[in-house]
Amino acid sequence: MKRVLTIALVLVLAVLTAGAADLKVAVLAPLSGAVPSFGLSTKEGALLAIQEWNAKGGVLGMKIVPIVEDSQCDAAAATNAANKVINQDGVKFIIGEVCSSASIPVSEIAGPAKVIEISPTSTNPNVTVDKAGKTKDYIFRACYIDPFQGGILAQFSNTRLKAKKAFIMYDQGNDYTIGLATAFEAKFKALGGTIVGKETYTKTDTDFSAILAKIKNAKPEVVLLPDYYNIVNLVTKQAKEKGISVPFVGGDGWDSSDLDLAASDGGYYTNHYSKDDPRAEVQNFLKAYAAAYKDDAGKGKVPDALAVLAYDATNLLFASIKAAGKADTTAVKTALEKISYNAVSGKITFDKLHNPIKALTILSVKGGKINFDSVVQP
Ligand code: PHE
Repeated sequence: MKRVLTIALVLVLAVLTAGAADLKVAVLAPLSGAVPSFGLSTKEGALLAIQEWNAKGGVLGMKIVPIVEDSQCDAAAATNAANKVINQDGVKFIIGEVCSSASIPVSEIAGPAKVIEISPTSTNPNVTVDKAGKTKDYIFRACYIDPFQGGILAQFSNTRLKAKKAFIMYDQGNDYTIGLATAFEAKFKALGGTIVGKETYTKTDTDFSAILAKIKNAKPEVVLLPDYYNIVNLVTKQAKEKGISVPFVGGDGWDSSDLDLAASDGGYYTNHYSKDDPRAEVQNFLKAYAAAYKDDAGKGKVPDALAVLAYDATNLLFASIKAAGKADTTAVKTALEKISYNAVSGKITFDKLHNPIKALTILSVKGGKINFDSVVQP
């Protein structure tokens, strides 16, 4: 009996002392739903950063405790997850969400609660800026934004693909695809190009034959398809079946180990990093990631951009807590605004809108492989 009591006492003490010195960090990612590869990579990148910091003694002596929630890249699920981690778990720091349409509603909960949110990957401008154009104090991101990405896609289509006629198709309910389509159209026209067709669909559509028939008639020299890999797989496969050979181009949403390389062959997309970048930050991360995570055949995994940005966003958070000297979110937000951090995806410093100014990588899909094309500086 005495022994049991002693053990119980030790356990209670352990929980109490651990609790006092813990730093809870929520990771909101789509582990299920339409784009689960985004969620798995994000979780892996964030947890690797947490493990590395914990192995070095945590942050300011605090052990980091991750709380991972499946927010599905969906506004309603992400709202529930944000409310849960803030109100039930008492979290003050959120890494996530991945998709813009989920990160925007999370920011509307985190901001007023003075909870820091760093989205690793959400590129829509409205993640960090409200409708009146004011920067949201506690909200940051680790990636560039869609006006940059969409403009570069237009420029690339104009100069490299020599396209003067473009067709745009996008999901009318997705902040990410709307933002990229808008930016592309403005830049493509400014460069003297013509938009020969613009069509929308919804995220549940699976048959794109009506739009593809219009593409065949309009004879564009490029098609902008700024959606996630699940839709890209469907559209490009159906396009090939219809004998459409015009190149499709898109944004970072194409990035997935589940991108159908045969269907999307001939396409180009913008991304956040290239594994061929010789910088030490990139090469060290590739080694650490391959050691930590294996594929089904037991081979070390190669991180995609989502894993890289989740790792970067998480490291950025801890570096700013360290710089602030305390885990107080107002002090941390001020530290983030001033930080200069050498991340895997490039050096991060924030502009007044809490957006990093970073370079972009263009990749091509050719011969069953993803190939490095070029880097574009901001
Ligand atoms: N940029 C996308 C969005 O804002 C998310 C994404 C980033 C997806 C990187 C894949 C790779 O919704």
